[in-house]
Amino acid sequence: MRTILVANAKGGSGKTTLATHITGWLAGKRQRVGLHDADPQRSATQWLQRRPALFPSIAGFPADASRKEMKEIGLDWVVVDSAAGLRGDALRDALRRADALVVPVAPSIFDMTATADFLGAVADAKPVREGGVAVALVAMRVDARTRAAAELDRFLEAFSFPLVTHLRDTQVYVYCARDGLSVFDLPRSRGEQDWEQWRPLTRWLAQRNPR
Ligand SMILES: Nc1ncnc2c1ncn2[C@@H]1O[C@H](COP(=O)(O)OP(=O)(O)O)[C@@H](O)[C@H]1O
Ligand SMILES: [Mg+2]
Repeated sequence: MRTILVANAKGGSGKTTLATHITGWLAGKRQRVGLHDADPQRSATQWLQRRPALFPSIAGFPADASRKEMKEIGLDWVVVDSAAGLRGDALRDALRRADALVVPVAPSIFDMTATADFLGAVADAKPVREGGVAVALVAMRVDARTRAAAELDRFLEAFSFPLVTHLRDTQVYVYCARDGLSVFDLPRSRGEQDWEQWRPLTRWLAQRNPR
């Protein structure tokens, strides 16, 4: 079972959007996938409740679910949607259980400042230092050709983690959140542009092997 942790200390950076989309992509690839909602706000759980039954299925787990129970079901992947403010021992524990960490970063000065502290703590954590957890940064709500993107890129260059892709600012993500869907559930005519932007990240995720 491979575990992908989606985290950033900042609320509203795009954690739930990334976590739900990663599960949507994996489910579409006929993988057995669980969505572990570690956020007491339960946004990921509510998204899953809105998901139409006809779409590829994703198993939901509440914050207090055990890893043993997930393993027993025979999941191929677990994606953890974490709460804002993850730090200290809770961050280290979450990293110890993860094979990969995906960090969404939005192009606002508040997001960048909070992210700098968070990435510092991530870089210091033993599972990351020892190479057990691969870390990817994702620029959220940003068009790669804009000045905001360039500023965000410059800021993220200071860290040793790769900036894997940019996801544009589009209502498509807002509609997907409302409807329990991911862009991977949409017909080609509506999803193609976003599939393209996701490809570097899905490729990066596909290379993550379980520890
Ligand atoms: N690329 C995007 N384009 C437009 N809206 C987005 C995008 N990513 C996220 N959002 C919206 O931004 C809000 C915050 O994102 P969310 O994933 O809930 O953040 P977090 O889980 O980190 O608090 C949500 O309403 C979500 O639909
Ligand atoms: Mg969230």
